[in-house]
Amino acid sequence: SSNLFVGTFVHTTHLGHLEVLHDHIVAVDELGFIEDVCVADSLTGASYLARPEATITSLPQGSFLLPTFCDLHLHAPQYLYLGTGLHLPLMEWLNAYAFKAEEQLDQDPNGLARMVYTRLAERLIRAGTGAALLFGTIKEETNLILADAFQNAGLRGFIGKLSMDKSTRPSYVEASTESSLTSAASFIHRCEGLTAHLPKHQQLVEPVITPRFVPTCTDELLSGLGQLSADLNVKVQSHLAEARDQVDWVKSERGVDDIEVFDRSNLLTSRTIQAHCTFLDSPSLDRLKFAGTAVAHCPLSNVYFSSLPFPLREALDIGVGVGLGSDVAGGYTVDISTAMRQAVITSRIRDSARKEATRQPSHGASSSETGSLAIDWKEALYLATKGGAEALGLKTGQFVRGAPFDAQQINLVDPKSGKGLGQLDFFGTVDRVTIEFLEKWWCLGDPSNRSAVWIQGKKVL
Ligand code: GUN
Ligand code: FE
Repeated sequence: SSNLFVGTFVHTTHLGHLEVLHDHIVAVDELGFIEDVCVADSLTGASYLARPEATITSLPQGSFLLPTFCDLHLHAPQYLYLGTGLHLPLMEWLNAYAFKAEEQLDQDPNGLARMVYTRLAERLIRAGTGAALLFGTIKEETNLILADAFQNAGLRGFIGKLSMDKSTRPSYVEASTESSLTSAASFIHRCEGLTAHLPKHQQLVEPVITPRFVPTCTDELLSGLGQLSADLNVKVQSHLAEARDQVDWVKSERGVDDIEVFDRSNLLTSRTIQAHCTFLDSPSLDRLKFAGTAVAHCPLSNVYFSSLPFPLREALDIGVGVGLGSDVAGGYTVDISTAMRQAVITSRIRDSARKEATRQPSHGASSSETGSLAIDWKEALYLATKGGAEALGLKTGQFVRGAPFDAQQINLVDPKSGKGLGQLDFFGTVDRVTIEFLEKWWCLGDPSNRSAVWIQGKKVL
């Protein structure tokens, strides 16, 4: 018995290429995979609609389905203090807020941690996020609760138990390098064990090897984790070249940049996603491309902690995989719409600054022959959907046959009154979802424009 969705579908399967499929049918099979995408009045469309056992969902006028967003970098325990304390530089902020909050959750996994993680999962779904790559805490139990909260919410979670055998907070550190490595391996097995009784397509959580960043990890720990990732074929995430104080710290302690430290430890792989990468020069971006490592671009958090913006256009031009991250609580919202908007803003500021720097005073015009550093809203939408999904090895982020049906319903207008919803106002009828209306939603939309979310075909909002 398949589920048929009839109406307008919007997706971006390639960077810069936005497709609006009007009057289409997306057929979803009983396992939650897309069986077909076709025009509603085609022969196949008619035969789908004639199936007696099919459940039909017809989208009202002025509504459309979009793939769910992907959050490629989020610190789940930091949701505890989201929206506070962003006045400090990174290394001081970690000590003043992050480590303290994470320790609090580790001291109360079944109480505080469960409460924070359950609420976070609800918020993400309401914000249209269908998959998140998460940093947790040090303690195994707390991360199992995080995995459990996401699995129960029906939300895809890539769960990173933190590895840190060094810390500036004496009460928040693992006892030894050896116990850190044992615990990393143990978490992988326990996390996989949580869903082992379920069929593959219903397994929504996956463990990820997570050395926090170079300053909290010895070389022995890093190379041990590199070995573990290769042996078990498990994904890796960390922070790379994020902030001035962090970059300087690594250089003075290790004598090399953190990209070199990761590479030596076999942690720069095609299974790896690195957050930030703001301080990477062009040869280092080439190195990411060569390794097949993807980037979680966190443009809001970067405004606070990184004195340099991520060279997004340069990374995209050489084919580095990029998705967007909220970096909660270094970024103050879980809503990926904010990350999309901030990615555009940051890229435009970079482009303007370069134009000004290369301006010829006598001519008044830019001498630059190269392309723009700015991205537009369609490119940002790609990063938020397909870009992030691809970095995680998911087939989601697009409406194509064989992909899991991970989708969100966006309503521009109230179907009854025809009036704009949320912040949207229209002076005329909204009978067709045009590019202009999509752009308006991209700029002004909020959770009140979202009425439903499906993950693996299952309605979770
Ligand atoms: N680098 C190491 N830990 C963190 C963290 O918790 N947040 C951010 N933004 N950067 C980090
Ligand atoms: Fe982070």
